Amino acid sequence: MSADAMPGELGRVERVFDRLAAGYDRQIGWSERALLGNARRWAVDQARGVVVEIGVGSGLNLPLYGPAVERVVGVDLSERMLDLARMRLPAAVPVELIHGDVQRLDLPDASADTVVSTYTFCTIPDPLAAARAAWRVLRPGGVFVAVEHGPARARAVARVMRWVEPLAVRMAADYLTREPIGYLTDAGYTIEYFDRTGRGGVVFRVLGRKPIEVVR
Ligand SMILES: C[S@@+](CC[C@H](N)C(=O)[O-])C[C@H]1O[C@@H](n2cnc3c(N)ncnc32)[C@H](O)[C@@H]1O
Repeated sequence: MSADAMPGELGRVERVFDRLAAGYDRQIGWSERALLGNARRWAVDQARGVVVEIGVGSGLNLPLYGPAVERVVGVDLSERMLDLARMRLPAAVPVELIHGDVQRLDLPDASADTVVSTYTFCTIPDPLAAARAAWRVLRPGGVFVAVEHGPARARAVARVMRWVEPLAVRMAADYLTREPIGYLTDAGYTIEYFDRTGRGGVVFRVLGRKPIEVVR
């Protein structure tokens, strides 16, 4: 689906990121230094072969892809974010940037070795639909690498996060406490690795595999 006429909630997310784009790198840079750490480096280091990056945003991961990656297809619904990503294209790895909805990926079945997502699922209206779309695009045996924020380990801090969440959703389309394991297992991935990093354990790092033989 082209993102030109995104309906309802999707249109709202698109407008939010078009509005936030100019300050995005500064804001996420601050969050990573203060809270999240460098988990995006871990995500990129897991990538192999043909990579689909969902919610590629301003392209902060693009310069980090190394020789294990053949090419990257980055998808995002915000043209303003994609404009920033276009200024970050690495010399070493071919990159194609597509304007579209990752809940309905307009890419061929089984065409990717790795799907990468960093801090994107917290903003997607229907995360299960996006996890299923990524599943279709991954080849059997392919890997989904996710870095997301979620509730802090300390219950008092997690409660505060839940309390401010409606405001974060309204201002930045950001579900602060959405956890990735549920929608990834519901979509069929086998979780091969999971840990929590960042201040208070707010960063969830997950590696899910699409099994070679699917028993449903
Ligand atoms: C918080 S930003 C993360 C950007 C980037 N992944 C990073 O690590 O900096 C979330 C991105 O997901 C995109 N996004 C949210 N929902 C989307 C959807 N349904 N389809 C495509 N992109 C989406 C937003 O436009 C935004 O660029």
